[in-house]
Amino acid sequence: MQTDFCKQLGIEAPIFAFTHCRDVVVAVSKAGGIGVLGAVGFSPAKLKEELDWIDEHIGDHIYGVDTAIPQKYEGMDLTSPEELVEMLQAAIPQQHREFSEKLLADAGVPEWPEQDDEVSLSFSAVQAQALVDEALTRPNCRMIVNALGTPPAEIIKQVQDSGRLIGALAGRLKHGIAHKNAGLDFVICQGSEGGGHAGEVTSVILWPQMVDAIAPLPVLAAGGIADGRQMLAAMSMGVAGVWMGSMWLNSVEASAEPAQRESYMNATSEDTVRSRSFTGKTARMLKNEWTEAWDREDTPDALPMPLQGYLTFDAVRRTHRYAGSGDCQKIAFNPVGQVVGQINSIESCRDIVFRLLTEYSDALDHINAITPQE
Ligand SMILES: Cc1cc2nc3c(=O)[nH]c(=O)nc-3n(C[C@H](O)[C@H](O)[C@H](O)COP(=O)(O)O)c2cc1C
Repeated sequence: MQTDFCKQLGIEAPIFAFTHCRDVVVAVSKAGGIGVLGAVGFSPAKLKEELDWIDEHIGDHIYGVDTAIPQKYEGMDLTSPEELVEMLQAAIPQQHREFSEKLLADAGVPEWPEQDDEVSLSFSAVQAQALVDEALTRPNCRMIVNALGTPPAEIIKQVQDSGRLIGALAGRLKHGIAHKNAGLDFVICQGSEGGGHAGEVTSVILWPQMVDAIAPLPVLAAGGIADGRQMLAAMSMGVAGVWMGSMWLNSVEASAEPAQRESYMNATSEDTVRSRSFTGKTARMLKNEWTEAWDREDTPDALPMPLQGYLTFDAVRRTHRYAGSGDCQKIAFNPVGQVVGQINSIESCRDIVFRLLTEYSDALDHINAITPQE
C-alpha cells in the first residue's frame, strides 16, 4: 500500500515509527515503513554515535531524525548552548529541586552512579541546530521532524536545500496552518489520545479538519493508532500515512526494562493522564504518584518548559535505569498514549508492521462486504 508521500520517500508502507531507540528505527525501516529517531535527549556526540550505528545496520533503507524546538521557551534570546543551560539550571527554584528529590528518595530510587552532571536535553533552536547539522551529514536520513512548534526558517531552508523533507507535529489546527505557511513539506497531526505532548482535541475530530485545512500538504495521522482498523480509519480521512509512537515501546527491539514493560502491559486506556509534571508542557503518560504529587494544591507547580525538563532530567534517567527498584514505577516517567490498553504482548517491529497491514486489509474487506456494490 503506497501513498504518493510513500512514493516521494521511496518507502513501501505508510507507517512512520517515532522512537528513541535506534534498533526500532532500523527494524521498522527494514520492514517497509520508516523509523524516525527522537533526538531530544541526545547530545550531538551521542546522536553521532546512534546515527553511526543506524547507518551500519540499515542497509539501503532510509530513516528520519526528530528534534524538539518549542514555539516559545525560556531563554529564546540566548545564542550559546552553554549559556542557555547555565541560565536554566540557575533558574530552577530550590523548593522544586527538594520536592523532586524527596519523591525519588521516598520511592527508593537509587542515585545515578557515575559522576557526570551532564544534562543532554535540547529543547531549543540553538541546541537542536547541532543535531540537525549531524543528521544532514547522513545520506540515508531523508527527513527531519520537529515537535512543539514550527522550526526556525533557517533550519527549514537548510533541510530543504539539502534535498530532504521537513515536517512538524501539530496538536491544533492553527499550528498545522502555521506549519504550512512556513513552507514545511508535511504535517503530523496528533490527537489528544497520543503519547507524549498532546493537545485537547481527539484524533478522529482533528485529522479530517487538518486534511481539509492544509490540503494538498500531506498529513500523517498520529495519536491512537495501534492496529489495522485504526489505521484504516485514519487513511479513510485522506491522510498520507500513520505516525505511531506508543506501539513500539514494548516491541522486542525497544530498550524498555522488564518493569517498564510490565507497566505498559498492565495499564488500561484509562491509566494515562496529560500532565505537565515532567517537561513543563502537557504530555500524555502513565498516571502515577509522581503525576498526582505535582498536581496537588499544596505542592509546587510544574515550571515552564524547558525548566521542568532540566529539573526532572535526573528523575527521568534514574527511573528508567532502575525501573525495577523499590517503588520506582510509582513515580517513573512513562510517556504513552491511550493505546497502552492495546499493548498486551511483546512483538517484533516487523510483526507489528505486518500485523497492521493484514488487519488493515481485513478491515477493508469487512467494509467492502457491508457496502452494496452497484
Ligand atoms: C515515549 C514517547 C516519547 C515521545 N517523544 C516525542 C518526541 O521527543 N518528539 C516527538 O516529535 N514526538 C514525541 N512523541 C509523540 C510521538 O511522536 C507520536 O506523535 C505519538 O506517540 C503518537 O501517538 P500514539 O502514542 O498514540 O502512537 C513521543 C511519544 C511517546 C509515546
